[in-house]
Amino acid sequence: MPRIAQETVEQVAAASDIVAVITSYFPLKRAGTEFRAICPFHQEKTPSFFVNPSKQSYYCHGCGAGGAVFQFLMQYENIDFPEAVRRLASRAGIAIIEDELSPEEESKQSLRKRLLRLHFEAAAWFHHNLLRTKAAARARDYLKSRSINIETAKRWQIGYAPRTWDSFLHWATAAGFVKEELVESGLVKLREQGNPRSRICDRFRDRLMFPIHNDFGEVIAFSGRILDPKEPSAKYLNSPETPLFRKGNLLFGLHQSKRFIANARRAIILEGQLDLITTFEAGIQNVVAPQGTAITARHATLLRRFADEVILFFDADAAGQKAAERALEVLFGAGLQVRIGEMPAGEDPDSLIRKSGSETFRARVESAEDFFDFQVDRSLSPAESKTTAGRVAFARKMARFISMVPDLVLRDTLISRLAVRLTIARETLLQMVHSSAKQSQDRTLVEEVVTSQVSMPRHDLALICKAALILPDFLYVVRQQPWQSILNHMAGAELLSKIFASSLEPGEPASIAAFFASLSKEEAAILSLLLANKELNEQMGHLFWKQLASAELQRRRRQIETALRLADNTAIQQQANEELKEILDLESWFTDISRLPSRAP
Ligand code: UTP
Ligand code: MN
Repeated sequence: MPRIAQETVEQVAAASDIVAVITSYFPLKRAGTEFRAICPFHQEKTPSFFVNPSKQSYYCHGCGAGGAVFQFLMQYENIDFPEAVRRLASRAGIAIIEDELSPEEESKQSLRKRLLRLHFEAAAWFHHNLLRTKAAARARDYLKSRSINIETAKRWQIGYAPRTWDSFLHWATAAGFVKEELVESGLVKLREQGNPRSRICDRFRDRLMFPIHNDFGEVIAFSGRILDPKEPSAKYLNSPETPLFRKGNLLFGLHQSKRFIANARRAIILEGQLDLITTFEAGIQNVVAPQGTAITARHATLLRRFADEVILFFDADAAGQKAAERALEVLFGAGLQVRIGEMPAGEDPDSLIRKSGSETFRARVESAEDFFDFQVDRSLSPAESKTTAGRVAFARKMARFISMVPDLVLRDTLISRLAVRLTIARETLLQMVHSSAKQSQDRTLVEEVVTSQVSMPRHDLALICKAALILPDFLYVVRQQPWQSILNHMAGAELLSKIFASSLEPGEPASIAAFFASLSKEEAAILSLLLANKELNEQMGHLFWKQLASAELQRRRRQIETALRLADNTAIQQQANEELKEILDLESWFTDISRLPSRAP
């Protein structure tokens, strides 16, 4: 699976101390020979996330997340393995050597690379147009009218797409990009949709261009705003979905704001990109904006990596309220607490800051109410609150939201508080939450069973896996034994086979990390769980291994003996006898005392 050369992976692993890497994301506290922290992958109050420097691995006793430094990056940054290696390599200043790719992989990867380069260069070209060309005079005036100064325009690399139908196309062609990749990028479009042979033209014309970055800071799309309010087409035009850009994955501004969000453990969610830029430039920097879509579950998990709480600033109008309500389910579901920020009618954060200054907006951030209080204060009508029936109906609505909160302690607090505020019995509300939770739980349980494919190996197998990972002598000796003949027929021994067959050197953190990298996420989690458990000695490893081997051989011998008894022709008998002979050989192999562990000096 890894396309990056194994030696590079090992080199990167050796240069990436897991404690240093994780500390660059959040602080770790020393705990004996290990380090601990609140787990970034699930909601908890007491830290059960451990990092072990000598094993160069991490493990969470609460949620089971674990692995080596690569898995951490993959999980934390939501990236795949090659990407994790690349990021750690660039952090360590190591050049990546890539193994040969299949032609298909090669073209997929090189398309991605070409698209990234195209976006990178296009952003610079649009930006240059805005700052330097005559044709962009109107665009510069427009920026001024929105009080965006040159520094801000530079920091966000704001640009201008000329009015013509083909300026971008000409530039891109001269820069060496070909039709297929230009169409694939979405920056150029086919005049006749769906006909790849049709002529092409620029997608963005006469628009102010905002580059959209992934959270790593690469430009992967654009959003273009019209300059003239009378222009009949959409106010903002975004890149279509491309191999680089998936709207539901992307939060505008996150590449700039993530460290501020992580520091505050709190993210402010705004609706528009200009709101975000203005807010950020005004010094309120823990902000993100979904890119012209509703908040998705993917957005929520992304935010949960950095924040415990979000504050929603959606337009005060009905559409904004609807959007906020839809966002709640995914935000609560991800374990985020939600506060609702209020705006004066007709304003958005951008216009408010321009008119009344950043302190006014900051005050609104601070006074944003918890979602549940907000609901009781704002959406419970006086008429409703007067009658028991009205309050119970309202409680039922709230119960649905409370049931989406995964943290049970928090849920309990919410129930008590809301019961008091609505003057209804706590038990009644609790009942409502339970029946609401039951409905959604039934759904998730089924999903879990369907999606879980890898399970923990049997206890004995698990211990042998662990022995192989940490005891050099044990693995050395077993590798010289006919272990394949034992494990080949054994269900559930795939992971152990992988370890035996690998070139892993137990106790060598870099080698372990490289081996982890070749595993699936589930396998890596299982092994890191084993590593996190109590120590084990070499003899125990051998003992378990021998027991396992003889149990397996016994099982097969019985099978063959039965087959022999029932055999009604000599051919079958002969075959069975041969198998039996092989089994007996193996049995004596494993019971022969002289073969017991001794590692060549
Ligand atoms: P708004 O209509 O609230 O605009 O759209 P805005 O952010 O205040 O923009 P300005 O101040 O008029 O320039 C909010 C967000 O919805 C997306 C954009 O991401 C925008 O920032 N949107 C809006 C579109 O994708 N397309 C549109 O036509 C309009
Ligand atoms: Mn606006």
